[in-house]
Amino acid sequence: MTVIDRQAPLLTARALRKSFGRTDALRGVDLDVFPGEAVAVMGPSGSGKSTLLHCLAGVLVPDAGTVTFRGTSLGDLDERLRSRLRLTEFGFVFQFGQLLPDLTALENVTIPLLLAGVKRSKAEVTARSWLDRFELGEKSGQTPGAMSGGEAQRVAVARALVAEPEVIFADEPTGALDSLAAETVLTAMLEQVKQLGATLVIITHDPRTASYADREVMVRDGRITAGGAVGQSRSGVDPEPAARPEEVGASTPGRQLRSQDEQR
Ligand SMILES: Nc1ncnc2c1ncn2[C@@H]1O[C@H](COP(=O)(O)OP(=O)(O)OP(=O)(O)O)[C@@H](O)[C@H]1O
Ligand SMILES: [Mg+2]
Repeated sequence: MTVIDRQAPLLTARALRKSFGRTDALRGVDLDVFPGEAVAVMGPSGSGKSTLLHCLAGVLVPDAGTVTFRGTSLGDLDERLRSRLRLTEFGFVFQFGQLLPDLTALENVTIPLLLAGVKRSKAEVTARSWLDRFELGEKSGQTPGAMSGGEAQRVAVARALVAEPEVIFADEPTGALDSLAAETVLTAMLEQVKQLGATLVIITHDPRTASYADREVMVRDGRITAGGAVGQSRSGVDPEPAARPEEVGASTPGRQLRSQDEQR
């Protein structure tokens, strides 16, 4: 079992607020995510889960409050640095399609590796292995428009995982999948958590999917109603004491394996 270091969070949200017009999507959210843990975010439709994930990943800028990653406030980074962070450290599976519509499945999955400086020939071999793993080998030359929703979703997951990001943000990544395909996708994500030390934040409506996580966070009406407090975890998984507030925001070692592999 992976030992989760609950002394220094990898990601924190503090007093996060975000409104869209008159809709208060987030109304003061505090959350800690520790390196190497898998956190399931659950809650009713419209409760603010996607908004929270987008703020954590630096895709959306909150109206108030802070998000820190390894102790650095995302608000202190300009858009160029934020986007570099997203590119190099984060893998994101959005709730609604984000594949590039004019590119084939193979090209979509190859992109993160090319951006990370991997040679095209090698990147394509790796991307192909992900497509094969998700039973998409025959679709590698198709564009997203020629795929089913579930196929496109698996391509999106492959694209998020292919460059082995430090944090995987997944917004209902199995929503369009049958149970077998969902299992394949979840297994792939959890492998990166358990074997590579990645951190996973996954939104799901499916209690079974959530049961694979180390911790469940419940969002209701723009607030976290359970699981957000520092150090809470599924009973028995992790006996570590909670981090004290003064420890929050300290720098973390991040993925143990990644430190040897920083040049990617
Ligand atoms: N771009 C936007 N413009 C206007 N309102 C928005 C926007 N994005 C989200 N909202 C509103 O903010 C609230 C939270 O939305 P959010 O997408 O975070 O919910 P969710 O928990 O992810 O829901 P679901 O489970 O249906 O995906 C909702 O009331 C939603 O209508
Ligand atoms: Mg959502």
